Amino acid sequence: MIIAANFKTNHTRKSTREYVETLKEFLASKEIKDQILIFPPATALDSFSSPSNLKIGAQNAYPVVNGSFTGEIGLEQLDEFGIKTILLGHSERRHILKESQELIAKKFSFFKERDFEIVYCVGEPLEIREKGFEALVKYIYGQLENIDLNYDKLIVAYEPVWAIGTGLSAKSEDIKEVLNELRKDIKAPLLYGGSVKPSNAKEILSIQNCDGLLIGTASWKAESFCEIIEISKKLAEEK
Ligand code: PGA
Repeated sequence: MIIAANFKTNHTRKSTREYVETLKEFLASKEIKDQILIFPPATALDSFSSPSNLKIGAQNAYPVVNGSFTGEIGLEQLDEFGIKTILLGHSERRHILKESQELIAKKFSFFKERDFEIVYCVGEPLEIREKGFEALVKYIYGQLENIDLNYDKLIVAYEPVWAIGTGLSAKSEDIKEVLNELRKDIKAPLLYGGSVKPSNAKEILSIQNCDGLLIGTASWKAESFCEIIEISKKLAEEK
């Protein structure tokens, strides 16, 4: 399983360091084998010494090595810390920051060419879900336009917009239906994200074709994120 933490605009440089230390101790003491990804804010990116199954990634970057793009960071800033993992297409960047599919696809190509592991997010807003499954699939495939689905370092996260940060996760049946649809064209690992927490992690991780979780709110406290990692471990042992 892949368990990822999206800090969004939370945590400082100092608290991220403390978080990573807590997490490292936890991963070692529980002998966790799952792949763990952490996406801190850009100001907290750093060269962390970490075990091979813990990677630190960027929540966003501009598709340039360097240049004049005020407020953005590029490849040079990621290279400084050996960052080779990036989150792209997150709903907050699509809807709040108004990132177009064209720009997201450009970022995808740029970071793919540089061999980055890419966690690529898709997900429908409520008004699309209400139009039915066919409309939903069409919408999600629009978000996959010009994305190389065969890229070997691709991870796709399905995150329905209405489930993000609302405390209300999608129902297992609904998640299953979308993941099964995506699986027809995507061999890459498929994650679910949207109000995942310790109380629903087991049920979601048990869904067919679900290869892991992308967690926002419930990842911001290291204890809660570790609790979810442990749930995943126990589930694997039960199988
Ligand atoms: P959430 O966020 O867990 O707070 O719903 C998930 C995400 O946006 O990746």
